[in-house]
Amino acid sequence: MADIHPVPERVRAGSPSPIPDMDRYREIYAAAQNDPEGFWLEVTRQRIAWDKPPTMGLTGSYHEIAQGPITWFADGELNATVSCLDRHLATRGDKVAILWEGDEPGDNRRLTYRELHAEVCRLAAGLDALGVQKGDRVIIYMGMVPEAAVAMLACARLGAIHSVVFGGFSAESVRDRVRDSLAEWVITQDEGLRGGRKIPLKAVVDQALDGEHGVKKVIVHQRTHVDVPMKEGRDVFYQDVVAGRDAAHPPTIVPAEHPLYILYTSGSTGKPKGVVHTTGGYITYVAYSHQVVFDLREDDVFACVADVGWVTGHSYIVYGPLANGATTVMFESVPTYPDPGRYWDMVQRLRPTIFYGAPTALRALAAQGDTYVKKYDRSSLRVLGTVGEPINPDAWRWYYDVVGEGRCNIVDTWWQTETGGICISPLAPVTATKPGSATLPLPGIVPVLMSPDGHIQRGPAEGLLCLAVPWPGQARTVWGDHERFVSTYFQHFKGYYFTGDGSRRDKDGYYWITGRVDDVINVAGHRMGTAEFESALVSVDEVAEAACVGFPHPIKGQGVYAYVVLQPGVEPGEPIEKLMNGACRTLIGAHAKVDLFQFVPGLPKTRSGKVMRRILRKVAEGDPSNLGDVTTLADPGVVDVIVKGAKSL
Ligand code: PRX
Repeated sequence: MADIHPVPERVRAGSPSPIPDMDRYREIYAAAQNDPEGFWLEVTRQRIAWDKPPTMGLTGSYHEIAQGPITWFADGELNATVSCLDRHLATRGDKVAILWEGDEPGDNRRLTYRELHAEVCRLAAGLDALGVQKGDRVIIYMGMVPEAAVAMLACARLGAIHSVVFGGFSAESVRDRVRDSLAEWVITQDEGLRGGRKIPLKAVVDQALDGEHGVKKVIVHQRTHVDVPMKEGRDVFYQDVVAGRDAAHPPTIVPAEHPLYILYTSGSTGKPKGVVHTTGGYITYVAYSHQVVFDLREDDVFACVADVGWVTGHSYIVYGPLANGATTVMFESVPTYPDPGRYWDMVQRLRPTIFYGAPTALRALAAQGDTYVKKYDRSSLRVLGTVGEPINPDAWRWYYDVVGEGRCNIVDTWWQTETGGICISPLAPVTATKPGSATLPLPGIVPVLMSPDGHIQRGPAEGLLCLAVPWPGQARTVWGDHERFVSTYFQHFKGYYFTGDGSRRDKDGYYWITGRVDDVINVAGHRMGTAEFESALVSVDEVAEAACVGFPHPIKGQGVYAYVVLQPGVEPGEPIEKLMNGACRTLIGAHAKVDLFQFVPGLPKTRSGKVMRRILRKVAEGDPSNLGDVTTLADPGVVDVIVKGAKSL
């Protein structure tokens, strides 16, 4: 018997959503499919504060994407911060916009819409005075402090393009992003605080910029007030930048397709690419999806416990909630600090109605037992969300039964950095859920399952997940490399956006995401490329060759499995493993770690020298029984050795 959960009455009752029930969903879905341009023009006109409202819908198509990016609302003009801040002042000036929970439980700050507007204006004015201009790139390398959101919005206020780099990335990674984006400005803080540990953000920036000459100013917010060296002429304190500035700084009005931000994300090959989101379409899509998925209500407190360094933080901590005039929580700490009850302790104190987190954290917390949850009052919660990786049915049920006590609907939201916002998900008051399924597409999203040779699968089927028609929130290009954008996403299946994910569709039309089918590994919801790991491993002198794949990990979803060929005479063992993981930390970041090493005499390669990753994946997954055809290998004997020496947790 299928495990179907109807929407609890408490979640359904009183929904203000334009899509409050299944009949309306079907109607609106069909309307959006019949006339996407009309649909989205209507959505944006209703929801977004345009300086000059658009009359144009879509230009371009997936078929013509090689000729140039698609555009949405191209003749419209706006500034995203007007939608997020200014227009709320009259009706929501005293409403809390950002509700911050610091690393220590109960360390809270509240910024009302009026205060946030003023702070954004002050920083925008300060940046303006330093010389930041429309179109300039600004790297933001910060922890989860309100000033990180302020920095993003201040850039947007000026039409500058922010690129937030997650505070766990290494100096090398920061440098790569500064170089690729040609950023002239960096906003950072003295130290980050996470789980009682200090993260030397400013020191990492100093290291990243050592020998670099393109960055004009580094603006340093003081979080811990530790003494940090300030480079003469380059470094300025945030406090000094905003001091004495006016609490009203005019927004720079930009065309709809002006880039709002660049966010670097890992792919199958090479270095992370700078995914570009533009202003009008993105803000429209995040505002819309945030409301209809979570069924946002005026008194909601929305707690997304992601980091602003990832797309989830951009879309559903900052831009979506603020565009909708919601109270958005920013959480500086980790789910296990000071103990595994932290989320629920915070829920009891801050009383969020919507809680949005990652399956990894839920699995880790479920493993600690229910006492940490039950100790706290979670009665404020109405909607529970998950994002970033497939959620296994056990973790889903724990979330539903234990955390939500069966009173909340779960929205398992599937999307990607590139999609800008949620694409496949239950709508909280509408969709009956099945544990592990992201359920149905949002209006305007048309999923298609492809066979590897490009045939569309109809009805219940399994295949490669593509999206068939453009929507406003999708990424437009890769910064400085449109060709890479085209070849990454539009080359596999002509005329379709290929997501890199596999999916199943059941008889009810529900989608079940099965995970990446490419060389992207999703570790604890952090997206990483095998190529990045491999180049870190081979940077170690003792390593001759390396190949990395993902394998199922009980807590992290996927772990990293590395096959390593050492230089002649080098002893395998822990010291060399430590060296290799040190290289991952230095070259990628603190969150990058190989879980299992297998030392092998050689990699399985075809006669043309291509590593047969399929074999490596199967062995790492503990499923070496059906390796398929290995006769094209240059040395089929290596497979036996690999199978025999396979590692597991
Ligand atoms: O594999 C899918 C997985 O995360 C990938 C996107 O990662 P990223 O760009 O870092 O964005 C994460 C936050 C949106 C996808 O290709 N993924 C994301 N959400 C889900 C998911 N897999 C299964 N179910 C989800 N709900």
